[in-house]
Amino acid sequence: MTADEQKKQVGDAAVAYVKDGMKVGLGTGSTAAWFVKAVAEQIKAGMKLTLVSTSIQTTQLAESLGLVIKDINDVGMLDLCVDGADEVGPGLALIKGGGAALLREKLIWEQANSCIVIADAAKHVATLGKFALPIEVEPFAWKGTVNRISDVLIEFDITMMPKARKKGDDYWITDGGNLIFDVACGAIHEPAGLASALKSLTGVVDHGLFLDLADVALIGGPDGVKVLHP
Ligand code: A5P
Repeated sequence: MTADEQKKQVGDAAVAYVKDGMKVGLGTGSTAAWFVKAVAEQIKAGMKLTLVSTSIQTTQLAESLGLVIKDINDVGMLDLCVDGADEVGPGLALIKGGGAALLREKLIWEQANSCIVIADAAKHVATLGKFALPIEVEPFAWKGTVNRISDVLIEFDITMMPKARKKGDDYWITDGGNLIFDVACGAIHEPAGLASALKSLTGVVDHGLFLDLADVALIGGPDGVKVLHP
């Protein structure tokens, strides 16, 4: 079973958690895209949902399928958010942001009563950090912010320096107008400590560690979908 088949498998499986009348957050990325497509099928079949999106990319996909995306500020608390991840570690600690949508994703996740992460089996790991950790940075005075990030990383025995994400020769700009720096951490032994140290830095808008946010993980694989809880 290919990774893409597993992504579809979990995107489809997540629809079982969606009930008529719910307010639902749509995640970003190739896995979440399968969920968006599955939701569109449900709506075609008559289900009524209020939908919000975690990125311009997902909004464009949803609208191309005929879905209506509401402004999160007009919707309030969500019943459910379904999104992909780059790594799913112990306790359903996650690395997200490979698609550069981490800030809007975290805002939507934190405004949802229940969050489901969907991923193919290769993303289920014993220790977070093989996937480079994305950090979203305010562009003004970014060099100073990156120096402060590097100091924090050293405190956590991470020696790799943050690398600016680029699109060709240009810096990658997020939906919110910020820069992304990726850190090849190797292994993150203290995710909670690192998350709060990074978050405390002026100029760091947010980072891709999603801790204590996922309620359920659906992990794809040839033997069917595994349902994990923290
Ligand atoms: C987007 O910023 C990310 O958090 C994605 O959810 C994550 O990168 C997973 O993407 P794929 O499903 O495309 O692997």
